[in-house]
Amino acid sequence: MIKLPGLIDPHVHLREPGATHKEDFDSGTSAALAGGITLVLAMPNTKPPIFDADTLDLALDAAKQKAHCDYGQFVGAGPDNADWNEGKRKALPQRAAGLKMYLDSTFGELRLDDMSLWMPHFENYPKNMPIVAHSESRTMAAAILFAAIYDRPVHIAHISLKEEVLLIKAAKERGIKVTCEVCPHHLFLDKDLTGFGNLSGLTPGRMEVRPRLATQNDVDALWANLDVIDCFATDHAPHTIEEKDSDNPPPGFPGLETILPLLLTAVSESRLTLPDLIQKMYTNPKKIFNLPDQPETWVEVDEDQTYEIKAAEQFTRCNWTPFEGWKVKGKVRKVVLRGKTAFEDGKILAPAGYGRNVRD
Ligand code: NCD
Ligand code: ZN
Repeated sequence: MIKLPGLIDPHVHLREPGATHKEDFDSGTSAALAGGITLVLAMPNTKPPIFDADTLDLALDAAKQKAHCDYGQFVGAGPDNADWNEGKRKALPQRAAGLKMYLDSTFGELRLDDMSLWMPHFENYPKNMPIVAHSESRTMAAAILFAAIYDRPVHIAHISLKEEVLLIKAAKERGIKVTCEVCPHHLFLDKDLTGFGNLSGLTPGRMEVRPRLATQNDVDALWANLDVIDCFATDHAPHTIEEKDSDNPPPGFPGLETILPLLLTAVSESRLTLPDLIQKMYTNPKKIFNLPDQPETWVEVDEDQTYEIKAAEQFTRCNWTPFEGWKVKGKVRKVVLRGKTAFEDGKILAPAGYGRNVRD
């Protein structure tokens, strides 16, 4: 048995409000606990999107009733809500996990095209609260320039390309306040499914994800530059299997229940060390996102148990996984959250509503 700290996932989509047939705070935080994660930060591209006091309350009220693990909720950057230091909006940043800026197109309505719309957000959002950018390739370079100009930290979500990891490395070497995360699917899958072959029977619709799966060369560059990567995050983006197999498949993969076994398997193959895993799933996200301690919190893992990933055994409501049938090594046995056994041997034991808002 190995004992890990309660792990942190700074990037999940729990679909509440508006798309609870895909996931909600109940199923999503259950999936988190089953995956060894005790704290999730939820993204704002819901229906409606979370961008002001009323919509933030919608999400936080649902979370308060339903969450089994601890949580925070991001607000989204829109064209008209950048007055973060004025009047009614002033109190908002302290109640939110951080500000999410969608600078490239993806699922949902939040998107800021024009760079003149980025400026007031960088200027006004409190410097001690996180800004996370969905920005790919050259858009990412622009977001890093904004961090330099406004001299404030920016966290780049889900990097996937060699050019991205190399540019972040160069920016860090020059003292720019940039951090980044990478998702398991960009480490274990490539666009041609060469790495492990098409073991999980991925069809074109199921392969849709933003950022798209990249080349094997990009995947290799991420592994070669793990020291540049601050966090592992799932970008848990559940869409039902029917939606993924439809004519208009939405992008996104579930990931909460597979991140830890996949990474522990990499540890068992010496592609990663356990201290690295703890740094990227606990120490660094805690620091980057200003998260409180979770006292008396840990995860017990049977590091020798091998098993097959099966969507049918997961808590996520989406009913599929891109890693179906993969053999992994390392099973979560038990999760203790703030002194209470929250998960044990496949069962969720923390009641709905046990989870706390990290900004309270
Ligand atoms: C995410 C979703 O479905 O909400 N989809 C995805 O492919 N990652 C949105 C996002 O994070 O870009
Ligand atoms: Zn996302």
